[in-house]
Amino acid sequence: MTHRSPNLAVLGLQWGDEGKGKLVDLLAAGFRHVVRFQGGNNAGHTVVVAGQSIALHQVPSGALHQGCFLVVGSGVLLNLGVFRQELDRLAQRGIDLSDRLLLSDKAHLILPHHIALDQGREGGAIKIGTTGRGIGPAYEFKAARMGVRLADLLHPDTLADRIRPGYEEVRLRLNNPSALPSLEAVMKELMDQAAPLLPFIGDSQGHLMEAWGRQEPILFEGAQATLLDLDHGTYPFVTSSSCSIGGLFTGTGMPPKALGTVVGVAKAYTTRVGAGPMPSELFDATGERLREAGREFGTTTGRPRRCGWFDAPITAHACRTNGVDGLAIMKLDVLDGFDQVGVVVGYRDGEGGLVKRLPACASDWDHLRPEVRMLKGWSRPTRGLQRLEDLAPEARAYMDVLSECCSTPIAYLSTGPDRAEGFTLPGSCLEGRL
Ligand code: IMP
Repeated sequence: MTHRSPNLAVLGLQWGDEGKGKLVDLLAAGFRHVVRFQGGNNAGHTVVVAGQSIALHQVPSGALHQGCFLVVGSGVLLNLGVFRQELDRLAQRGIDLSDRLLLSDKAHLILPHHIALDQGREGGAIKIGTTGRGIGPAYEFKAARMGVRLADLLHPDTLADRIRPGYEEVRLRLNNPSALPSLEAVMKELMDQAAPLLPFIGDSQGHLMEAWGRQEPILFEGAQATLLDLDHGTYPFVTSSSCSIGGLFTGTGMPPKALGTVVGVAKAYTTRVGAGPMPSELFDATGERLREAGREFGTTTGRPRRCGWFDAPITAHACRTNGVDGLAIMKLDVLDGFDQVGVVVGYRDGEGGLVKRLPACASDWDHLRPEVRMLKGWSRPTRGLQRLEDLAPEARAYMDVLSECCSTPIAYLSTGPDRAEGFTLPGSCLEGRL
């Protein structure tokens, strides 16, 4: 085993949608295995190749590289119907995964009653603004020991006994339980969906351990992001998985020493979908301009994203939490043409003091106002640039401020959606890896 593992993680540092898919797709060529370890089809990873965009939800973003073996780890939730549609769409584009896919036998299923409960709650008093994909209830039932694992699909004789407790529990909680399909219908649909996938179910932990032993490089692909992490995010306005570094280990069964490098991904500005604190949010024409220029509409739900300037305290918090070795700053080109660009460097509390620590209680966020430092914009566009030397001095100065605020060096800069638009920084943890 080498001293520093070649294995690398790509994690989101904001509220998701940072562009992790692009980076994973770029990096994947240098890795033998690409692994998802948490989340479900609430995620939406867009990969753009030759101007064509491909949206992936549950399939790891290494799919487009024939040499990549794709692993769905134990921490992931799978909606089998959606997963099959995704495989079909890839097959239509000539991308066949049949000899390079493994689904953890410990991964949990998203079932129709989880979706019904999620959507029912969003129609009630507490609105998190979820994706409505059943994520919260599926994780909740996993923790309550009423979840259903992929391994259960291999035992049709006991499958109904696994599904029934969660199903009955949801019936009790729903206002209109008669709208739920019967348990028999749930079972039948599930078995139909599962049939072609059964050969792919197996021991993903063992597979990864063996790959690690053979020193085959592994790329860990995070979904969602640190500010949506169940523990380290803006609770309760979070998703229900551990999207930061800890989730990688529980969601794969790999030990921390299996990981060599952590790359944190952030946009050059901030976005968020759904409800919850976002002190940097801009409600004016500038916010609208960011949304239009950045095409900030959800990959999964199509919802318009809330937009604001780069929020340094949240991103610094995410860098610390994950032990980030290098920052990947995405969508710098979206800021092209702005006379001035802002960085939220802290928050003013009710007494006027400057705070940088994130509150633990959701209501404490309400008293915080962003302290914005304005910097000069750049007149020479960054779009498509491939070398640091070609960046306008103002754009370089902006990048330096982001790096300084996060106490983390920049490893990669993205200057457009296509694979070719962007570059790694010399001397960074990504040098020579793209
Ligand atoms: P859930 O994951 O569907 O339960 O949604 C909980 C919160 O996480 C909501 O605010 C969602 O908008 C947000 N969320 C979940 N997945 C993503 C994602 O992939 N990108 C951005 N936000 C997400």
